[in-house]
Amino acid sequence: MNLKRELDLQIAEALEKAGAIGAPALIKQSQKVKFGHYQANGVMAAAKKLGMNPRELAKKTLEELSLTQAKEIEIAGPGFINIHLSNDYVADRLSDLNQQASFVLPVSKANTIVIDYSAPNLAKEMHIGHLRSTTIGDAAARTLEYLGHTVIRANHVGDWGAQFGSLLAYLDQQEKSGEKTSTELKDLEIFYQKASELFKADEVFAAKARAYVVRLQSGDPRCLELWRIFITESVNHCQAVYDRLNITLTRDDIKAESAYNEDLPQVVEDLDKLGLLQLSDGAKCVFLDEFKGKNGKTLPAMIQKSDGGYPYMASDLAAIRFRVNQLKADQALYFVDARQKLHLSQVFAVAKVAKFLDESKSFRHLPFGVILKDDGKPFKTRDGAAVKLSDVIEEAITRAFDLVSEKNPELSEKDRIRVAEVIGVGAIKYAELSKNRSTDYIFDWDTMLSFEGNTAPYLQYAYTRIQSIFRRANISPLALEGEIILDHPIEMQLGVKLLQFEEAINAMIEDYQANILCNYLFELAGIFMSFYETCPILIAEEPTRSSRLLVAHITAGTLKKGLDLLGIETVEQM
Ligand code: ARG
Repeated sequence: MNLKRELDLQIAEALEKAGAIGAPALIKQSQKVKFGHYQANGVMAAAKKLGMNPRELAKKTLEELSLTQAKEIEIAGPGFINIHLSNDYVADRLSDLNQQASFVLPVSKANTIVIDYSAPNLAKEMHIGHLRSTTIGDAAARTLEYLGHTVIRANHVGDWGAQFGSLLAYLDQQEKSGEKTSTELKDLEIFYQKASELFKADEVFAAKARAYVVRLQSGDPRCLELWRIFITESVNHCQAVYDRLNITLTRDDIKAESAYNEDLPQVVEDLDKLGLLQLSDGAKCVFLDEFKGKNGKTLPAMIQKSDGGYPYMASDLAAIRFRVNQLKADQALYFVDARQKLHLSQVFAVAKVAKFLDESKSFRHLPFGVILKDDGKPFKTRDGAAVKLSDVIEEAITRAFDLVSEKNPELSEKDRIRVAEVIGVGAIKYAELSKNRSTDYIFDWDTMLSFEGNTAPYLQYAYTRIQSIFRRANISPLALEGEIILDHPIEMQLGVKLLQFEEAINAMIEDYQANILCNYLFELAGIFMSFYETCPILIAEEPTRSSRLLVAHITAGTLKKGLDLLGIETVEQM
């Protein structure tokens, strides 16, 4: 249920009746439901916009307002309306929530939403940088699905670029010299490093590598055969990482760059027909005035290279057509590194000019910053290589295992291993999600694995504490009966917070800032802990005891669901 929306609607209606015509549109994000009261700030905004006296307007609005939700309504300061929610109302809504199958109302109009995320370049192991898109994108996918949208996961892996030219050229060179080659990914990786070094140092090799890209792209069977070996091996590696990280992507979600190969000539032809293509150093490009370089010159969007090969831009344009025409996407969300801002802006702009994309569709780039080491420098190993994601996951689990063993040595080893996986993986994902998406952040083991503060272990622990209440009482939450009574101020505070879950979810998806949901869960857990300290549960008399157990149960369910939307698991004991 959405407490705020419900109140907003009523206020908006009263405002109009009070003479503030057009006011509903002015009521947006300004109102907050705080502990037990709701502040209708929209009145101030409406009065200002319409040149009315805010206190006057507030008074008239009050006369038009009959709220069953309130025990008291007052006008404060220059014209704020403070609505003090009644304890019975909050308690009733909480009971409703407990009886509903879902914490949210399904959306009135389900959209088809393509989520473009993770998308590593293949032939290399995934590195720590891939954590961002993968984690944030997956949380968005889970959340939109929960709200009732049709989500299509699109893993636009790079399997076709220049890197394969170097790889194939190197492989060819080695085979000719009679060397035996291994196609395991870890060997491929070394292989790739050597190939890139040669590419930089040796012009003859570089020319050969470029020729290989063209051969590959034109379907040379031998090239394709070698290429497939690289791809299969890398995809297996990615899938192993996703499974370990509890990411919902599967092999079926891969729609690689190469999948668009056959459409590329058509993209070029269509752009050409529209007269959008210009030759620039032999390459076919679209020049749009809105993209200017530092020197003031218009930047090209390259669609076909001078050697006939197709760059990244071409497959992204083909992907847009596929998403619009075949997938019938209403929206597409691209969770891609901020450094690709120009690229994606050009892709969207060219697609619009070419009418591949019309105004009714919302295709958005949701950029993010980079992960830094504690010294504020980019995350690299000592020898300057990228830190492997699989190593990061292993380290998280090992560290979590030591922590759990220290905290709860009575737990069996098998249980500690399971708990360590849930905590370790949860910690790295939550560290990612709890930061503002757009900025860089520092990766810090001690903070993310701490049981205090805004971390996954803290929330997972709060959940297990509630579960342990039920274990101690030997009661199944499903067997609970009776009313919810919110007598104590902290009970009321917890009740209101629980009713705000849906609001937090909706706020999160406005701009896909998962930290909004993280903060909500963190605050909820904090309020619960205070409630737990202030309001005895198991030793309370009936009907208080059952009521408090019910509130505890709803809190546990909310924490679990919230973490689930973020892609983070819980355990019953830790
Ligand atoms: N593979 C690309 C990279 O690693 C990211 C792809 C993002 N998605 C897209 N449609 N361009 O840089």
